[in-house]
Amino acid sequence: MRILVSTASKHGSTAEIGREIAGVLTEAGLEVDVVAPDGVKSLDGYDAVVLGSAIYVGQWLAPARDLVERLADELTARPVWLFSSGPIGDPPKPEEDPDEIAELLEITHARAHVTFAGKVDRSELGLGEKVIVAAVRTPEGDFRPWADVRAWATGIAEALRA
Ligand SMILES: Cc1cc2nc3c(=O)[nH]c(=O)nc-3n(C[C@H](O)[C@H](O)[C@H](O)COP(=O)(O)O)c2cc1C
Repeated sequence: MRILVSTASKHGSTAEIGREIAGVLTEAGLEVDVVAPDGVKSLDGYDAVVLGSAIYVGQWLAPARDLVERLADELTARPVWLFSSGPIGDPPKPEEDPDEIAELLEITHARAHVTFAGKVDRSELGLGEKVIVAAVRTPEGDFRPWADVRAWATGIAEALRA
């Protein structure tokens, strides 16, 4: 079985979640390709897809949304899992998923969507990003829940083996 893991990420922390998921799937004996969304031209040869994105201002990043639009028919033809990363803090906020997640689930017929907390390192942000983060008083830190990420990926491997 060959699985595509594709993750849209601006500052790298969501891409690291994607690579962690890929690592768990590989350990489970699946063949895994990690390709950024812009580089995915077709899903030929893939038995399943894990697609993720960081959330910025209530939306998935454009490369991940574009992949869904571009390859909608191919996505519906195979098992798909979606994940988002974004909420910051302890407890992570915002608590609600962006509205577009329901639409992405409908288009892709994904089996599931999960949101993992994210990471903010102010030193990596552009000026506009710093202004937004200060305006909404986002705390700084790495809140990514690695055990949850690995457990979610293990569930995908089990579902594919079944
Ligand atoms: C300018 C800005 C806007 C953000 N907006 C949201 C948001 O609307 N919802 C959310 O859950 N997280 C939001 N975040 C948090 C990011 O999604 C989080 O930092 C994520 O881990 C970044 O992933 P990346 O390193 O892959 O780009 C925002 C972060 C920044 C810097």
